[in-house]
Amino acid sequence: MKVRKAIIPAAGLGTRMLPNTKSIPKEMLPLVDKPVLQYIIEEAVAAGIEQILIITNRGKTPIEDYFDYAPDLEARLLQDGKLDEAHKVREVADMADVFFLRQKETKGLGHAVWRAKSFVGNEPFAILLGDDIMLSEKPVLKQLVEAAEKYSCSAVAIHQVPDELIVKYSSVKLKEKLSDRVYSIDDMNEKPTLDEKLSDYAILGRYVLTPAIFDILEKTPPGRNNEIQLTDGMKELCHIEPMCGVDYEGRRYDTGNLKGYLEAIIDFALENKEVGQWLRGFIKEKAESFD
Ligand code: UTP
Repeated sequence: MKVRKAIIPAAGLGTRMLPNTKSIPKEMLPLVDKPVLQYIIEEAVAAGIEQILIITNRGKTPIEDYFDYAPDLEARLLQDGKLDEAHKVREVADMADVFFLRQKETKGLGHAVWRAKSFVGNEPFAILLGDDIMLSEKPVLKQLVEAAEKYSCSAVAIHQVPDELIVKYSSVKLKEKLSDRVYSIDDMNEKPTLDEKLSDYAILGRYVLTPAIFDILEKTPPGRNNEIQLTDGMKELCHIEPMCGVDYEGRRYDTGNLKGYLEAIIDFALENKEVGQWLRGFIKEKAESFD
């Protein structure tokens, strides 16, 4: 089982980040020195992905421009001797083979994924949510791909979350521990109440699925919020095919809400070679002035 293709659903409305996201897609919001989406593409490439399909919608053309060449800008930078900057601009466009497809109606994550059926064909593929960023030593998608390849199964990223979050995400039923951090899964539910939760483990932002999901999604009726839910499709998938949950090593940030976005900015800035040390000093100085 080799995972070569990935899709990045980025066709949501981003209402939690308005008015920021009125004209800038939330995936293009800056995270220290590059947009959120660039980190996600870098994670996919580091996990061995060769082709990436980004699912967009009407308001997301800046994403397409960002991953294209910029001949006028590059010529000007070269003319001015700004070779590093010209290199950075070109590097982004050459990072991966990126394709785009529109989700013409915002009918939910499951519907966005289903749109990728022709691109994916008959092979396992990865999904990385366009606003979920991971900070980890080994790329989280790579951790999933390794588990999927080892156990020949679909794999989803899972993590223990407190009750106040599990009701906003999903919960999974763990069947058996396959190895350190990897469990087989045989059930899941979307946004459970505390009575309905199947464990403290939620699915967070990264998936490797087999193409069997497409036929399932095609028949999945709209669920919560009248949207086609990926979790509803995956619930059926894990009943008919093996699926594992990888309790990934790393930290996840939901940059689609203000607190998650701010946490990501601080943590990624602290890791940054140019500004990390300076920021440490600045935060210490600030903290001393707090009551
Ligand atoms: P979210 O739940 O974050 O929804 O979607 P959203 O619309 O993007 O943001 P809010 O809640 O209005 O602030 C999870 C992922 O699914 C994608 C989003 O782009 C995000 O990556 N998505 C969601 C689609 O691609 N299409 C949809 O119809 C819905």
